[in-house]
Amino acid sequence: MKVSSTIDTEKLNALIEINTLINSNYSDVNALLAHILSSAMKLVEGEASSILLLDPHRKFLRFEVALGPKGIEAKKFVVRTDEGIAGWVVKNNRSLIVNDAEHDPRFSPSVQQSTGYKTQNMIAVPMCVKNECIGVIEILNKGKDREFDNGDLEVLEILANQAAIAYQNASYLQISRDEIAALQDQIHHERGYHTLIAKSPVILEKLDIIERVAMSESSVLILGESGVGKELFAEQLHLKSDRRSGPFVRVNCAALPEGLLESELFGHVKGAFTDAVCDRKGRFEAAHQGTIFLDEIGDMPLSLQAKLLRVLQDRSFEKLGSSETITVNVRIVAATNRDIEKLVDEQKFRSDLYYRLNVLPLYIPPLRQRLEDIPSLADFFMNKFRREVKKNFMGFSEGALSAILSYSWPGNIRELENTIERACVIGRPPYIKEEDLLLNIRSMPVNNAEGDKSLKSVINLFKKHYIQKALEDNEWNQTVTAQVLDIQRTYLSRLIKELEIKER
Ligand SMILES: Nc1ncnc2c1ncn2[C@@H]1O[C@H](COP(=O)(O)OP(=O)(O)OP(=O)(O)O)[C@@H](O)[C@H]1O
Ligand SMILES: [Mg+2]
Repeated sequence: MKVSSTIDTEKLNALIEINTLINSNYSDVNALLAHILSSAMKLVEGEASSILLLDPHRKFLRFEVALGPKGIEAKKFVVRTDEGIAGWVVKNNRSLIVNDAEHDPRFSPSVQQSTGYKTQNMIAVPMCVKNECIGVIEILNKGKDREFDNGDLEVLEILANQAAIAYQNASYLQISRDEIAALQDQIHHERGYHTLIAKSPVILEKLDIIERVAMSESSVLILGESGVGKELFAEQLHLKSDRRSGPFVRVNCAALPEGLLESELFGHVKGAFTDAVCDRKGRFEAAHQGTIFLDEIGDMPLSLQAKLLRVLQDRSFEKLGSSETITVNVRIVAATNRDIEKLVDEQKFRSDLYYRLNVLPLYIPPLRQRLEDIPSLADFFMNKFRREVKKNFMGFSEGALSAILSYSWPGNIRELENTIERACVIGRPPYIKEEDLLLNIRSMPVNNAEGDKSLKSVINLFKKHYIQKALEDNEWNQTVTAQVLDIQRTYLSRLIKELEIKER
């Protein structure tokens, strides 16, 4: 490549440095772009800058990275390709210097009006891969009232082309990684298991308990409100035990009428009842060498409870219509969302069975008492459903995230999952917005008795998640992150300490 004499040694050295950086930062697209932009801004001495990327249909440009005084405000904007300087650059696939933005007919003031940051002059260059434009780098307001010149343009063009190729490669790598993760999830899923997201200290402690009791043969009773994830904890108990390569058999005790449930659990022989046209193995036999998960155990009819008690005591039973005793090697894990002690008091649940099952009780707290799990769960569900609806969501708007954090989630994780699925269906990329969630925050019950729902704690949690995400996006580079967040670096490091933000 011919380098013009207008590029001085200092700029050339800076370019070489950026190049090395680009080549060493392939793994994280966002961090890569933030590095490129921050260096580009320094090179041409601009005050603010952004990288806008084209959507696959080439109709919109979204602010992927924005640095400078109003970077945060600019970041969530999407502009049409038929307006503004960036749109002109995409359409003509050419660079542009605009030294009097206010009077340039190509300039669109819409972003400026919303952020309040005034553009005096600017330089915009296309990011090209094989002559096709994939985005635009814009640098605004040359310091000390000077104007951008051809020297700036030339240096930025070199950088933008390298950045485009590096970005393309990093994107391909990211896509491959996402696909590998999705395939791993799918294999896990095909075996019937779910991914369990855990960030809150209270849930990490429960997982620690699971780790310790998984190896024992004792029965476990999992308690907790509907939708808290009891089934997922039962899976973990199995997966952490020596039985992990054996079967994990799920039975919903509330889903079948009494007679059918008995045959489902213990099996029957031909002729045991009218429809028993052949012998059939029950779920206990199917779970041999593995774990049986008896869900909704509180709904099991009393007559069956006696038979279950015997299995718990000596692991043996008879099939319906047979006198032959069958012995199995099965670990029993049960769960209920009902107040089982009350059922015992009301004599709807046998007390001897309850004591036998309750050797190791495990209580899973509701979501409103573990706010720290919410942002990660929300991200997890967004990633899951954006693939299903084929919409490229990048995350949640600030408003959406604070709404998610302040809602009380009476239906727990199941409700959060459904809410995000719906938001992915009705929302428009790049961000899920508060209105897409359809949460009726105003009518929700205020629950001061449980969890710390003070405004301060919710705001701190929001800050923690937001900063953590920004740090991750920028490979934990505090200088770049502080720039992106538009705060002082010293303030950022104080927040990291105060909010106990740690590299994951
Ligand atoms: N920690 C978690 N990480 C990811 N997904 C979760 C988590 N906890 C729950 N879920 C999801 O939330 C939904 C509800 O979980 P689950 O069925 O285990 O709830 P439950 O406690 O058994 O509720 P119920 O008492 O109504 O049966 C499921 O789709 C599950 O995959
Ligand atoms: Mg369940």
